[in-house]
Amino acid sequence: MKRTALLAALFLLFNACGSNEPQVEPNGGEPTDPNGPVVQPSEPLPGLPESTAGFDSWLKMNAEPIPPKPADPHRGTKDVFINQTREAIAPGGENQYPYPDGTIIVKSAVPPGKDFVGLVAVMTKKKGTNPNHNDWEFIEYLRDNADSSFRKAFEGRLCENCHVKAADTDYSFTVLE
Ligand code: HEC
Repeated sequence: MKRTALLAALFLLFNACGSNEPQVEPNGGEPTDPNGPVVQPSEPLPGLPESTAGFDSWLKMNAEPIPPKPADPHRGTKDVFINQTREAIAPGGENQYPYPDGTIIVKSAVPPGKDFVGLVAVMTKKKGTNPNHNDWEFIEYLRDNADSSFRKAFEGRLCENCHVKAADTDYSFTVLE
């Protein structure tokens, strides 16, 4: 009898303590990621090459948006992204040229008075494809509204003739800031 009472008291005590414990939700044994969900690259914008998918999450080279200029070759407010890490292209904080084979630089522009990206200009470095111009391929894509697909608008020599002025920084006017 005494023993039963003791067990009952222990039972009550145990449960009383238990109710003060924080409730732990079972999570199926999954480790909890302290940094939250991993950012997934976004789908390629319709009409743009697969290689540019998720470019807006790449390293941004410009610190502030690049405003439109008079006689602008790429009209709009612009950002420039590169598929490299800061450590790879500016070790110790020093920008290094030329950029590695496989580098892609994307410039996106929101046209004046618009609220969507209407221009995407792409430089892709492919070994052996364009030896006279540091192996860069230049293509620009345009679209007229937010729902339509991009279409290839300009490419090649037109672009190279102007970008050659930035030969000292491997054809990219924008340098990593
Ligand atoms: C008359 C000169 C000129 C022409 C032509 C030109 N660009 Fe540019 N481009 C620039 C300048 C200047 C920038 C620097 C950012 C800015 O001010 O827009 C730039 C930026 C870029 C960038 C971002 C990297 C960088 O150099 O800063 C890409 C990518 C690009 N242009 C692609 C193209 C493509 C593709 C074409 C051809 C369809 C082209 N450009 C034609 C002058 C030119």
